[in-house]
Amino acid sequence: MTINFEGRVAIVTGAGGGIGRGYALELARRGAKVVVNDLGGARDGTGASDAAQTVVDEILSAGGTAMANGGNVTDAAQMEEMVARAKEAWGGVHILINNAGILRDKSFAKMTMEEFRLVVEVHLNGSANVTKAVWETMREQNYGRILMTASSTGLYGNFGQSNYGAAKLGLAGFARTLYLEGAKYNVRVNTIAPVAATRMTEDVLPPDMLDVFAPEKVAPAALYLVSEDAPTNVIMSAGGGAYQVAYITLTQGTVLPPEEQTPEGIAAAWDRITDRTGEIVPQNGLEQAMMIASMLQRA
Ligand code: NAI
Repeated sequence: MTINFEGRVAIVTGAGGGIGRGYALELARRGAKVVVNDLGGARDGTGASDAAQTVVDEILSAGGTAMANGGNVTDAAQMEEMVARAKEAWGGVHILINNAGILRDKSFAKMTMEEFRLVVEVHLNGSANVTKAVWETMREQNYGRILMTASSTGLYGNFGQSNYGAAKLGLAGFARTLYLEGAKYNVRVNTIAPVAATRMTEDVLPPDMLDVFAPEKVAPAALYLVSEDAPTNVIMSAGGGAYQVAYITLTQGTVLPPEEQTPEGIAAAWDRITDRTGEIVPQNGLEQAMMIASMLQRA
């Protein structure tokens, strides 16, 4: 099976470097027309450069089709304009990879609320801005593939990244409702949690691991998740050639009799509540309520 993107228009945010650049190059190599968005700022989001144009030049010289966009994902009007330009030039937008991001790492004790808000603004609200700008088009086309970028920090935590972790798990939660709302319109929504040696991780990953975690190794997972036969509602991790899926599971738990529905009753039943035997992965929030209803019937 060959996966190609002929006739598809893709937007990749933050594609002027790192992981996003790898996505843009590979999408273009496989036939997509690619909007390379990047503000071109530093790791902390300050400044600007023509990083997007550099990647577009690479794509064009390899025979691909691409346009640069230097817009800021936090600016909804700029993102709407980017989508309008892509539609004008190429007739639609079929794929969106929300990848742009910045870091402002500090322990929560030392972090200002401005630093907290800025990181949430770029990752979470920025992804919502671009998604909003393509959503109606994808519904009308009856075709859309959207990929959010989470992180092991969002899923599992990392010291010094409370702002980033909040935004990243927020993105996974965003995807979990969008996949339900998009299903009827053939819009599939997934989340990737990459691991790659880029400027974002240069002071975290050991130097001898830099080659192992080449950013290009994330692209196969991302491209599969935005392909025609992509799954939906998946949280996938990709790094160094290893590919995994993360689940948010629910234990079977237990129903307590009314007299034990107390903090003391919870403490006494803790082993049963946390027992992972038979845990499930609900496909939507309502499934949990239905599960409780059937537990109550059985109790
Ligand atoms: P990177 O710093 O090389 O790439 C991020 C890109 O986003 C930069 O080119 C930057 O200019 C652009 N950008 C930042 N703010 C923007 C804005 N407001 N509007 C438009 N573009 C903007 O970092 P990397 O590693 O390639 O990260 C890509 C994504 O993967 C990010 O969302 C990051 O949080 C995520 N990620 C990366 C991991 C890794 O191991 N490198 C681990 C987990 C998640």
